[in-house]
Amino acid sequence: LPDGQALTPPMGFNNWNATGCAVDEKLIRDTADLFVAQGLKDAGYQYVNIDDCWAAPDRDATGRLTHHPQRFPSGIKAIADYVHAKGLKLGIYTSAGTLTCAKTMPGALDHEEVDAQTFADWGVDYLKYDNCNNENRPALERYTKMRDALKKTGRDIVYSICEWGQNKPWEWGAEVGHLWRTTGDITDTWPKVVEILKKNAPLAPYAKPGAWNDPDMLEVGNGGMTATEYRSHFSLWAMMAAPLLIGADLRRISPENLDILRNKEVIALDQDRLGAQGRVVSQVDGKWIFVKPLANGDTAVALFNENAVATRIGTSAPALGLPRRPAYTARDLWQHKDFQTAGEFTAVVPAHGTVVYRVSSRNWWSAEPLVSAGLE
Ligand code: DGJ
Repeated sequence: LPDGQALTPPMGFNNWNATGCAVDEKLIRDTADLFVAQGLKDAGYQYVNIDDCWAAPDRDATGRLTHHPQRFPSGIKAIADYVHAKGLKLGIYTSAGTLTCAKTMPGALDHEEVDAQTFADWGVDYLKYDNCNNENRPALERYTKMRDALKKTGRDIVYSICEWGQNKPWEWGAEVGHLWRTTGDITDTWPKVVEILKKNAPLAPYAKPGAWNDPDMLEVGNGGMTATEYRSHFSLWAMMAAPLLIGADLRRISPENLDILRNKEVIALDQDRLGAQGRVVSQVDGKWIFVKPLANGDTAVALFNENAVATRIGTSAPALGLPRRPAYTARDLWQHKDFQTAGEFTAVVPAHGTVVYRVSSRNWWSAEPLVSAGLE
């Protein structure tokens, strides 16, 4: 939506991948605490989002949703206040249907205005709007109604269309919400990450500031993949300018996986203000090359090995569309090391691994090293 929100892909947390329906206010508070204590807020993570099952099964006497008495005894307003006091934002969830997917609470179909107003009154900053129990009514109509209801509240609320890519939301999503799911649900498995990648990558032309393809929330740290696979998952989501919503319970995540989520140089690719989704330059025999232009003229390059054996993957400055120069300075964003190259970008990439480079444009204009050219 061209309303100045979500100018970069939303970053935060959502409990669904870690807990499913078993969400409670302690998890949300603990997550907000850990965002601050573990440097995640500092790394850019902002939204703490509650998924399905947070509400009581029935609306109250006035027709409003209320909090689930056991899971959120303090109420949603109190949680929003808590999260806001930490300088963070609160997200919530419902479905464009009669019930949510878990069927434990009412959906917002035909209750769009009262529910949007309730969320605004509580201080909610983000709504994920799911697609279950929709009575086969047209998606565009259902999602547009909620857009208008949110707008009517006057509150800034990021609007996440969770329609699973069924009605080509990339073709209408930019006018309706700030992000739209492009696929069915992610699972904590390598084949699913690759499946989603293949569906989401071709949609690059549709992404721009305020309008993002959403290949679903992160599984990093949930235990079903190796650290190499989680680094690939995170790298590829960042190259695709995907929302970065942590899906692991931060109270239990390993230091290694936490460090993946805190890689600020990879996050900077995702959050780059140019807002271009990286595109696939080539994909041959499971050897993928992605390129993502960046606002300061730099170029991000990812070498992704889909194969189950280490594979040499290489590309060159001309193939990446870089201007012809005598030499290039680049940085490996997982090794955190700079290097020079005459124009070859090649690495032996481990099985299921991804190497990510940021190629600097700083010395494109001079054959001389910056120091002798007097530019530094
Ligand atoms: C389906 C969505 O795609 C998931 O992300 C999650 O929100 C569940 N519904 C909740 O029931």
